[in-house]
Amino acid sequence: MTEQGETIVSLEGVYKIFGPDPRGRAYDLARAGVSKDEVQRLSGHVVGMTDISFDVKKGEIFVVMGLSGSGKSTAIRTVNKLHDITAGSVTVEGVDVQSLTGSALQTFRREKMGMVFQHFALFPHRNVIDNTGYGLKVQGVPKQERDAAALKALAMVGLEAYAHNATSQLSGGMQQRVGLARALCSDPPILLMDEAFSALDPLIRRQMQDELMAIQEQLHKTILFITHDLNEALRIGNRVCILRDGYVVQIGTPEEILTEPADAYVAEFTQDVDQGRVIDVVNVMKDPVIIQASDTLVGAVDRLGDRRGGFTVDADGRPTGLLSVAEAAGALAHGTTSLADVLRTDFGTTSAEARLNENYAAAGRGLPIAVCDDTGRLIGELEPREIMEEMGRVEQLIDGFEREVFL
Ligand SMILES: Nc1ncnc2c1ncn2[C@@H]1O[C@H](COP(=O)(O)OP(=O)(O)OP(=O)(O)O)[C@@H](O)[C@H]1O
Ligand SMILES: [Mg+2]
Repeated sequence: MTEQGETIVSLEGVYKIFGPDPRGRAYDLARAGVSKDEVQRLSGHVVGMTDISFDVKKGEIFVVMGLSGSGKSTAIRTVNKLHDITAGSVTVEGVDVQSLTGSALQTFRREKMGMVFQHFALFPHRNVIDNTGYGLKVQGVPKQERDAAALKALAMVGLEAYAHNATSQLSGGMQQRVGLARALCSDPPILLMDEAFSALDPLIRRQMQDELMAIQEQLHKTILFITHDLNEALRIGNRVCILRDGYVVQIGTPEEILTEPADAYVAEFTQDVDQGRVIDVVNVMKDPVIIQASDTLVGAVDRLGDRRGGFTVDADGRPTGLLSVAEAAGALAHGTTSLADVLRTDFGTTSAEARLNENYAAAGRGLPIAVCDDTGRLIGELEPREIMEEMGRVEQLIDGFEREVFL
């Protein structure tokens, strides 16, 4: 996580009103907290953004998510000054974006950011490599140099083999990759992506998300990513900002959004989401109970206390056997007293960084799962019960929401 990182993009108290007199009555109404619909009714002006503030930190994927019309595109367009703002400030790497005009604005856009949009307008009459290097061409970069940069960018999205194909020969997903390569080609520190994957079918879309995350691991760009899809937001975002009717409802990590929704609106959004996809094992695991191979079965059960299981470990701390309390109880009832007879070696293992949902199948066996670090050392224990409890929180959220809405 990059939460402590330097702020690259900052919006502070930004208002955007569309209409002939943006700073007039509509602005006063919006500032007074009158709803978007009401402002429109009273003033004939459309509120695009109401007092929006957020910081995008260096190296993070910051996702702005909201329904159609919530102000996502308007917000991202203030960052490169495709929109002027009505009030507030937009700062990129310390530069007041609103103050930029003319060639300074052109240079700023060119050097600081690459843009990827939903329907990426590729030039149909140019081949893939020329489309990719187009931005550099505009900057007057010689052909050899821009082709080299374009090939490098195409390699990142897996399309170098198609460099000399016509763009019309590419599938939608491939065209979107060219769009991404084009944005990456001049190596800008910031990527602005507005619904970049929204037009793709689900499988291709997932692949693109994976690729973006892989590219990000390598390049550490600062990415402002817009989507109306909460699953996408939670999957790729380091932090997510939820907009509603032009204002910010909540900003948080995917886990915070899911487990501590700011209000019923967010809770409603999150009810269809599988929480296990964003909860890391590390947040749910318990310290492991270590039992000794020399323990008697009764002694080992004693060590477990109220836990569902414990592990024996080797000299390096790697788990070698699992004692499940349920199985131990059964064995004791049948007169078995030997620990070795009841120890299992076919236990599941996972890592602290894994997501909870990756362990559903293993949890389904009803046995504790060993959590190991990358040297294989036992660092925690995941109990199936915990996984189920985390899942149970989804129900609570829905209950809470229904109470607020219906009572
Ligand atoms: N150029 C414009 N002139 C007038 N109103 C506009 C303009 N651009 C956006 N709006 C209005 O501002 C509000 C926010 O629009 P915006 O395009 O930012 O929404 P969005 O969240 O990107 O939606 P979508 O998911 O449909 O792309 C909407 O009510 C929209 O009608
Ligand atoms: Mg939009």
